[in-house]
Amino acid sequence: MGVRRKGILLAGGSGIRLGPLTSVTCKQLLPVYDRPMVYYPLSTLMQAGIQDILLISSPEYLPQFQKLLGDGSQWGIALSYCEQASPDGIAQAFLLGEKFIGDTPVALALGDNIFYSSELSQLLQNASAVTGKATVFGYRVANPSAFGILEMDAAGTVTSIEEKPQNPKSHWAVPGLYFYDADVVQIAKNICPSPRGELEITDVNRAYLDQGRLTVAFLDASTAWFDSGTADALLETSMFVKAVEERIGQKISCPEEIALSMGYMDRTQFRAACEKVAKSSYGRSLLMLLEDA
Ligand code: DAU
Repeated sequence: MGVRRKGILLAGGSGIRLGPLTSVTCKQLLPVYDRPMVYYPLSTLMQAGIQDILLISSPEYLPQFQKLLGDGSQWGIALSYCEQASPDGIAQAFLLGEKFIGDTPVALALGDNIFYSSELSQLLQNASAVTGKATVFGYRVANPSAFGILEMDAAGTVTSIEEKPQNPKSHWAVPGLYFYDADVVQIAKNICPSPRGELEITDVNRAYLDQGRLTVAFLDASTAWFDSGTADALLETSMFVKAVEERIGQKISCPEEIALSMGYMDRTQFRAACEKVAKSSYGRSLLMLLEDA
């Protein structure tokens, strides 16, 4: 039995980089292939073995998430909700989630980050099992100025981490999936807003690094990672999911599929969950999983 870790899914923000798509809805409710974007980071947390999840979004769109996802019991998880009055930074999630976190370790998933690997579940459960530290990932990117970026010395030890550097010290970005111990709340309370006025997740990670408590797990290209926060990335991610699903003849990164494979629900509950969407191609392909088994 691993650590009883909780999860926070951050799904607010201004969405201005996706206008006019986000004029009447928010980014994480936009479609990625045949389901809302938020299904993917939710599936990621579920794959890490996390069943108690707090979703944070703006007061305007939180009710839509509640309508879409409910209390999570249909997928064998517990979902609760919290408003972020204004997008004051990713690290604010830990201040808003202080009560929810209590003294348990917590993972944070950004609502627009999408991961896929056939080994993902094991990888995430390994990260989740680490206690008393923070674990983040490193992923090589072509455009390092758009991310939190790691610096390593000749031995490969991480020596610094910078948010969207103008002169990046490497091509290794930190994706939007983080595992912390309960100290993260205190650490987030001690950081100050950055020049752009946000509580930066990179400052939280730097605090763990300075304390010698940051583990970085480097991912290779066998894991796909998308930050689907631009129109191009939205399209690319949709095409990727469609291509993988057609190739393997099976749905990936769906809460229903993960709940079944992780044992959060049995086949009868799975069928009931799928039947709610059985008239769509999404629901029909999910039901094929039962035939496979
Ligand atoms: O995608 C990974 C990157 O995510 C990291 O490498 C960076 O270190 C990290 O700062 C973040 O950078 P972004 O520029 O992509 O963050 P963005 O402002 O797009 O926010 C990420 C998600 O979090 C997005 O779904 C919106 C949500 N969000 C963001 C802020 C600032 C909130 O819900 N509330 C907020 O206050």
